[in-house]
Amino acid sequence: MKILLVGSECAPVAKVGGLADVVGSLPKALKSLRVDVSVILPFYKVVKIKKSKLRLVKRRIPVFFNQKEESFNLWKTFLPKSRVPLLLVENNKYFFGKGVYVESDASSGGSEKEAARFLFLSTASIEIAKMMKADILHCQDWHTALIPYLIKKESYKIKTLLTIHNLGYQGIYKSKAVNKLLGTRFPGKQVNCLKLGILTADFINTVSPSYAKEILTRKYGAGLQKYLKRRKKHLIGIVNGLDLEVFNPKTDPFLKKRYSWKNIKDKSYNKIYLQKKCFKKANLKIPILGIVSRLADQKGFDLIKGIFRYLIKEELQFILLGKGSKKYEKFFQQSVKRFPEKCCVKIGFDEKLAHQIYGGADMFLMPSFFEPCGLGQQIAMKYGTVPVARAVGGIKNTVFPVKIKRNRIKGNGFLFNRYSQKDLFESIKKALGFYEKKDIWKQIQINGMKQDFSWKKSAKKYKSLYKKILD
Ligand code: GLC
Repeated sequence: MKILLVGSECAPVAKVGGLADVVGSLPKALKSLRVDVSVILPFYKVVKIKKSKLRLVKRRIPVFFNQKEESFNLWKTFLPKSRVPLLLVENNKYFFGKGVYVESDASSGGSEKEAARFLFLSTASIEIAKMMKADILHCQDWHTALIPYLIKKESYKIKTLLTIHNLGYQGIYKSKAVNKLLGTRFPGKQVNCLKLGILTADFINTVSPSYAKEILTRKYGAGLQKYLKRRKKHLIGIVNGLDLEVFNPKTDPFLKKRYSWKNIKDKSYNKIYLQKKCFKKANLKIPILGIVSRLADQKGFDLIKGIFRYLIKEELQFILLGKGSKKYEKFFQQSVKRFPEKCCVKIGFDEKLAHQIYGGADMFLMPSFFEPCGLGQQIAMKYGTVPVARAVGGIKNTVFPVKIKRNRIKGNGFLFNRYSQKDLFESIKKALGFYEKKDIWKQIQINGMKQDFSWKKSAKKYKSLYKKILD
């Protein structure tokens, strides 16, 4: 069984969001289950790999694309600290510029250059799969969702699995543009890449069981519920794991002091460090509410914005790291000016600071409107940082509300159901109340830290799914 996993991002070499973490870590877990898996990724300019670690597999592999013969060079290296081959597709015409995406907010908002970039990746991936005699092309999100369609069209004997990480990005482009690039004959005005992937993939999965159910409804189906329902028998949810070589407070090189649930006291060194870094002085008594996130509507920032002036009056400090939508970037930058002792914001992507927030904060805020899986809440719990989050999608499958029964403290976080400012605020207040009860709080932290966040169980599910697809 030979699997090629293809996506637009892969941590640590090309990361924008959680998709990268999955593409960079699931294959390692599959490899340890003896699955023959390689990753395909564009050789973006941001992919920095030492020459000595690169091998040219083949130069100028021809493909028919954009009405003519184009070509790509195929390079091979390995995912860091692993034996998982990483295949890099080199073509300067399509993988130009500084970013992973052409559009800076990764929104798949209609730029034809973005379409050309990922349809070229899709075309090249099929060529690689043929060359390597792969059994399954495992596609991620809209960027590679036309692969199943193209494979069926040419009747190639390659099976496909489409993993949906986010239904919010569908890759909708003018039919004329797509037809020109792919030599297809799509009628009508527009082509929706994700929709076609849903209709034609041999199997589909989302990144948590709850999200797999939610997307069959109008509220969460993003207009594709009808098609997803049609494929219901071939749709499952498998929750994402974490790469525990990257996210582990016991070994994390970015932390001031490392710790585990056994010496959770040492987490406070990281809090002191974070407070000094952000506010110049430390005070262990003040709880820190942390956020590490793409600044997208999906993540519930309108709720945070709505309650912010009340929130900031509470005894707490607010630290945010992220980038994305300009309206939120502006709002938080202005908030820092107004409340410099209580609010610290860094717009951008900063891996080190991200780890230091996970390590140093007390609570992690995630009031998502929808959340296919969510890695932030899982990383936070692994670091003893208690999530305050909305009970939706993958959050529901990983965060369990705090309950005290006969002196036993169960659960690992604070959840609210309704997408409302009031419910979010009440949930934060509840968490702040519990924060005062030190022993209980410690147990909540430990409950989170002891949870199994590894890929082991989920990688087994992917392996069985691959087998089922090939049956
Ligand atoms: C997307 C989703 C997020 C998920 C990640 C990885 O970023 O929004 O919920 O965890 O993909 O699957």
